[in-house]
Amino acid sequence: MHEIVQDYYGRQLQHTDDLKTNACCDTNQIPAWLKPLLSRIHPEVLSRYYGCGLVCPPLLDGCRVLDLGCGSGRDVYLLSQLVGPTGEVVGVDMTHEQLTVAKKHQEHHSDTFGYSNVHFLQGYIEHLDEIGLEPDSFDVIVSNCVINLSPDKDTVLSGIHRLLKDGGEFYFSDVYADRRVPDAVRNDPVLYGECLGGALYWNDFMRLAHRQGFTDPRLVTDQSLLITNSDLASRIGSLRFFSATYRLFKLKELEISCEDYGQAVMYCGNIPDHTDRFVLDKHHDIETDRFFPVCGNTWRMLHDTRFAAHFKFIGDFSRHFGLFAGCGGGLPFDTVLDTKVTSTCC
Ligand SMILES: C[S@@+](CC[C@H](N)C(=O)[O-])C[C@H]1O[C@@H](n2cnc3c(N)ncnc32)[C@H](O)[C@@H]1O
Repeated sequence: MHEIVQDYYGRQLQHTDDLKTNACCDTNQIPAWLKPLLSRIHPEVLSRYYGCGLVCPPLLDGCRVLDLGCGSGRDVYLLSQLVGPTGEVVGVDMTHEQLTVAKKHQEHHSDTFGYSNVHFLQGYIEHLDEIGLEPDSFDVIVSNCVINLSPDKDTVLSGIHRLLKDGGEFYFSDVYADRRVPDAVRNDPVLYGECLGGALYWNDFMRLAHRQGFTDPRLVTDQSLLITNSDLASRIGSLRFFSATYRLFKLKELEISCEDYGQAVMYCGNIPDHTDRFVLDKHHDIETDRFFPVCGNTWRMLHDTRFAAHFKFIGDFSRHFGLFAGCGGGLPFDTVLDTKVTSTCC
């Protein structure tokens, strides 16, 4: 599969418009606070963007960030501005042609930003131990539409867990299916290259994350994908695909279910560009200065991470009140199709 993917992203695709579906192309609105940062990125880098979501969590100033499958570097150069001169961003990709574009514009970006904090490494995300990255050394690891392309997702997740600091997070966008993808779809090189064939059934992803030590994956955003290319749509049949952004925290004490200890948090509203609210995930939109009841896992995701200084914490783990209300199963994604999404990307 590596050769098929390298050929697809290295030789067949030259530009975002060459994609045949909108799976590998983020149609989400860029938030206003990110637009000025995006406008400082070189047009050639922007023109080879193949992501499916936004991988810019809040509060990155000074962080060490790793981008897996960074491609030609759009997210690396966005994150470079968010971590600032005291932070660092490392981009890893296996495809020579993608990295050539990313590296070609390194000087342009360091001149534009006024500092240089970016490194690119060629390598496989299944072999992160072979490219000289220290265990427990990253605050945040991101990835944009890449994990679905890996033939060995367990090894990728285990490597990510090893490289994250305690309290660090893997914040990533990817494509998921509403059921297990049949072999005919999985083995179709175009569907694989378009980030559909290798997509995980969402519940298998949950199991995979648990297996590799990420106990309570949190869904941040999701979007139903519309495959309007009639040839590809007929090959896919009734399968449904979604792009989704998850955040997985490396926290030892997270529990399998959300348990209620009668705790609450209050957001202080002092994270830059997030003054009105802090959105932890799809179910936790925490308004500034408002008392917000949380389960034990959410409490730890805020208390034992880089977010701690920006919250007030009420309660502890001394009394248990049972399962936290609303902690449930079922398809986590919204099934309504965005009819504004057009046939191909961008
Ligand atoms: C859909 S593109 C996304 C690129 C980039 N994240 C972006 O948003 O533009 C997938 C990228 O992942 C890289 N990739 C896929 N599988 C990989 C692997 N196993 N190891 C390293 N890179 C990989 C490809 O070379 C390609 O650049």
